[in-house]
Amino acid sequence: MNTSRGLLATALLALLLVPRDGAAQALVNPATEKKIDALLAQMTLEEKVGQLNQYSSPFDVTGPPPGAGAQKAAYEQIRTGLVGSMLNVNGAAATRKAQQLAVENSRLKIPMIFGYDVIHGYKTIFPVPLGEAASWDPAAVERSARVAATEAAAAGLHWTFGPMVDIARDARWGRIMEGSGEDPFLGAQMAAARVRGFQGKSLAAVDTIAACAKHYAAYGFAEAGRDYNTVDISENTLRNVVLPPFKAAADAGVATFMNSFNEIGGIPATGSVHLQRDILKGEWGFEGFVVSDWGSIAEMVRHGFSEDLAQAAQQALTAGSDMDMEGRAYIGHLASLVRAGRIDVKLVDDAVRRILRVKFALGLFDDPYRYSDEAREQAATLTPANLAAARDVARRSIVLLKNDGVLPLDKAVRTIAVIGPLADDKDTPLGNWRGQGAANSAVSLLEGVKAAVTPGTRVIYAVGATLVTSPRNFMTPTVYNTSDRSRFPAAVEAARSADVVLLAIGEDAFQSGEGRSQAEIGLKGLQDELVRAVLEANKKVVVVLMSGRPLTIGHVAEAVPAMLEAWLLGSQSGHAIADVLFGDYNPSGKLPVSFPRDVGQEPLYYNFKSTGRPGPEKGVTWSHYTDMSNDPLFPFGFGLSYTTFTYSAPRLSATEIARDGELKVSVTVTNSGRRAGVEIAQLYVRDLVGSVTRPVKELKGFERVELAPGQARDVTFTIKPADLAFYTARGRWEAEPGAFRVFVGGNSRDLKEASFTLR
Ligand code: BGC
Repeated sequence: MNTSRGLLATALLALLLVPRDGAAQALVNPATEKKIDALLAQMTLEEKVGQLNQYSSPFDVTGPPPGAGAQKAAYEQIRTGLVGSMLNVNGAAATRKAQQLAVENSRLKIPMIFGYDVIHGYKTIFPVPLGEAASWDPAAVERSARVAATEAAAAGLHWTFGPMVDIARDARWGRIMEGSGEDPFLGAQMAAARVRGFQGKSLAAVDTIAACAKHYAAYGFAEAGRDYNTVDISENTLRNVVLPPFKAAADAGVATFMNSFNEIGGIPATGSVHLQRDILKGEWGFEGFVVSDWGSIAEMVRHGFSEDLAQAAQQALTAGSDMDMEGRAYIGHLASLVRAGRIDVKLVDDAVRRILRVKFALGLFDDPYRYSDEAREQAATLTPANLAAARDVARRSIVLLKNDGVLPLDKAVRTIAVIGPLADDKDTPLGNWRGQGAANSAVSLLEGVKAAVTPGTRVIYAVGATLVTSPRNFMTPTVYNTSDRSRFPAAVEAARSADVVLLAIGEDAFQSGEGRSQAEIGLKGLQDELVRAVLEANKKVVVVLMSGRPLTIGHVAEAVPAMLEAWLLGSQSGHAIADVLFGDYNPSGKLPVSFPRDVGQEPLYYNFKSTGRPGPEKGVTWSHYTDMSNDPLFPFGFGLSYTTFTYSAPRLSATEIARDGELKVSVTVTNSGRRAGVEIAQLYVRDLVGSVTRPVKELKGFERVELAPGQARDVTFTIKPADLAFYTARGRWEAEPGAFRVFVGGNSRDLKEASFTLR
């Protein structure tokens, strides 16, 4: 081939590889596969195994760090091509240095791929993912991931361990903050949006990074909400509830998956052939690679599934775990397992191929340093545009839970008291998994309020009581202040002298997150006492709740005239909250997770099954608590606005859907209040009879509707048989004919319904 034809062919190939809008990027193309064949042919067994080996940088570990001797050994392994990937190396300079070590010294000069937990921002921090999901705004969530990718890529990173797409129904589980809540449909939309945001249109661009759908699978179903605990769910729940967001990520072209720490039905996910070989790489045809979770291959020994590290390595690779994160099982044992005939080298080759595919797609073979660019790092990070995007996503994520008319506040209010342990906290809003967000770098509520009010307004601040007494970090358990009330009087005085009180309470920065399960999910420390004391001094209290999980705050919600859920909103938290408090942004967020009345209701979710005893009936007891309602405090999909919306009854284009047909469900949404506002109109479906029982309601659609006061708009949802499909008793994803109910409304509780039949 002459040069110009060669160039033309490359250009054509590049065009083919850049997907059309909305289409997923393919990792496999013949040219790359050929290059991989050539490399594989040159690689020794040890070098192949090296590609499957991932170490953490010893300087910023999220798990137990290796000892000094091990660090030294790792260094040598990088130089000899025995480390395919590193995590926790950060910054253009550091990644360049680490890459040089591998590329300049190793025989085949295969670049390493650098991964990091870029979960809700890299330096510009966005709301925790649960908060972002409350926006019900996939486009906004995609923008968030796009900004995160741009910053991370400029710092030399190639790969994020996100999105975390675990469905979570139990607020005790600390990692609920990292996902999109309890619903598979909303979760799938958010998963796909984040993959699109991280990976952009082409992985080959220098401002995109490979994404990773984790934790595969069912990690969020840990018994009793205790992190790492046993999971025992049916194939039915796995397929219908847990897997849809993973499938959506795969369909969106996610380059990698991460498996999980938990066992399911007696098999550790990391060693599960069913999950990784049968479903992911088989049924779904996934062509990227699977990384283990931190040490999860080695942990199969403690699960009692593997006799020793060698067997763990054999089981994990056989099951389809391609890369060993910090488990040292592959590097220690795979080569001898192959030589002993206990593992087919073809499995090793396949894992290497998958990893190399992603490295090729990222352009690392063209230039291993192309991401590590100090100038770009400077220019692309914490820019005004990134901060503006963070503020915008943050205010879309806020959920108004109660408002007796106190809100929005007047910016010219005479005196405003900003009280509470989180009121001037510049760290908590960054939350857990904050990437490289600098400690204490968020705009606090107090700062946000001060920036918003008129010059004549007096803003008084009082902490009331601190929340934690322990240092704040990923590893140290949180210890709460339960005794120091010395600052109560100043808070009470501030409340007394103010026209209105903003009370910032909830969870500390690291109260939710990995290893942060809690048996009680109320307000910790002295916060309940503080609420009572402040309310005695002034009834006009607006509670600004910050948390990474639903909290049991029914008693507070009842006692105060207004409350909003402000999650952990990231770098621009205070400004975003002020935007909502003072009415510059009319709140539009909706809960992506049910808020319980009491922790005893957990796990709690709206898409439950009917049971044989769903409600009160004469002469029988039914499925309920005798000391509390079954209902949540705030239902899934709930969120108020400063205006009100009314819904017409749903109108159906037909009463039947044919096998190849569709049905339109229209509803008129009217802004019946006096302010412009945004409503998230929701569509739910119930399949009345199934070969396996179906939930009482399932979200099947939602739309953001912007309406001027008095304005009405028709929202039309289309339902196709594919939208009604589920994993049936026949072990297939299919829709079953029969009767359905369809519901529309502004949350999962207050709905208007109609019926149709699928032929
Ligand atoms: C977490 C993962 C994370 C990994 C690397 C593990 O402890 O479970 O979600 O990606 O550490 O930091």
